[in-house]
Amino acid sequence: MNLLGIESSCDETAAAVVADGRRVLSSIVASQIALHVKYGGVVPEIASRAHIERINAVVAEALSAAGVGRGDLDGVVVAHRPGLVGSLLVGVTAAKTLAWAWGLPLVGVDHIHSHAFSPMLDLDRGPADLLPAVALVVSGGHTSLYHLQKSGPGPLSGEKVDLVHFSPPRTLGRCIDDAAGEAYDKVAAILHLGYPGGPIIDRLARGGDPKRFALPRSWLARDSLDFSFAGIKTAVLYQVRGQNMKGESRADTMSEQDKADLAASFQAAVVEVLVGKTLMAAARAGVRRIFVGGGVACNSALRRELSAAAAREGIEILLAQPKYCTDNAAMHAGLGYYRLQAGQTAGLDLSAVAS
Ligand code: KG4
Ligand code: ZN
Repeated sequence: MNLLGIESSCDETAAAVVADGRRVLSSIVASQIALHVKYGGVVPEIASRAHIERINAVVAEALSAAGVGRGDLDGVVVAHRPGLVGSLLVGVTAAKTLAWAWGLPLVGVDHIHSHAFSPMLDLDRGPADLLPAVALVVSGGHTSLYHLQKSGPGPLSGEKVDLVHFSPPRTLGRCIDDAAGEAYDKVAAILHLGYPGGPIIDRLARGGDPKRFALPRSWLARDSLDFSFAGIKTAVLYQVRGQNMKGESRADTMSEQDKADLAASFQAAVVEVLVGKTLMAAARAGVRRIFVGGGVACNSALRRELSAAAAREGIEILLAQPKYCTDNAAMHAGLGYYRLQAGQTAGLDLSAVAS
């Protein structure tokens, strides 16, 4: 079964064709970073306009790269929440139009649930083999822990156990202020490093001393699975501007080594909390498998530390491939397959939802 996926929730216009939920036939991503870089962040009006300009070409390229025509498709899947509403509307409208014109079922998925699903793309094993598990989704807008469970075969999947569908994830913890990716982007802005900050800090931190600056670890209540990264961002700001921001920014006068040490110290604090809470969630849910997805799942220190900690505990870790960590449409087409098997289709009144 071939599904066309469409993604437009923030600043990536993407389309993909995925066979049977996991075999990615094509995944095309048109990034808008170049359009937003001079503003230091995503400008919603520019993002939605760029989606409109690009969506048709991106869908056409995804079909052609997969070598499929409209007659080979079995459905259209779109992320209809959460995100920038003007951006989401472009993908939702495109998906509805294609589903209606081509007589195909329409499926709406939650973008964050797709990030939780993304480690399964291109894998031989699927939900029937891999669930239950805990998923850590770390992106620019979200830092969440989910309990992923399987439910029985859906109405369209007969008795075949490999078509077990993927239940809506149960939230175990979420961020109460800045998401991890947002903290990376803001810290990069404080250090005048550029946008988006995650990959830049990841690279810079490799040459830095993670113990040089004692930055706070925000554990919240002792048994809380929620996250808070606003405090550490402020602690970095105080290092650069002086306590209570009394001084001028030293971002342009600090040595490269000082910046690398601050980047490494920031990253160590974020990663320590992400790893600690994820393992706590796995223990609490009683599962031996952890999925990791979202843009920050590209981070080299997070991948290394989480893999090492999971190995010590005898837990299997499934990291999304870097190309499926940041926003893409393959993860939507993958998750949409299981939703479709469960009979969870949407009508042409599917709306774009910001939250
Ligand atoms: O999942 P994503 O593409 O978009 C959202 O759904 O938000 O995530 C984007 C976020 C940005 O904040 C970006 O700085 C961060 O992922 N990111 C990283 C890395 N690559 C991307 N953060 C840390 N290390 C990286 N290597
Ligand atoms: Zn995302």
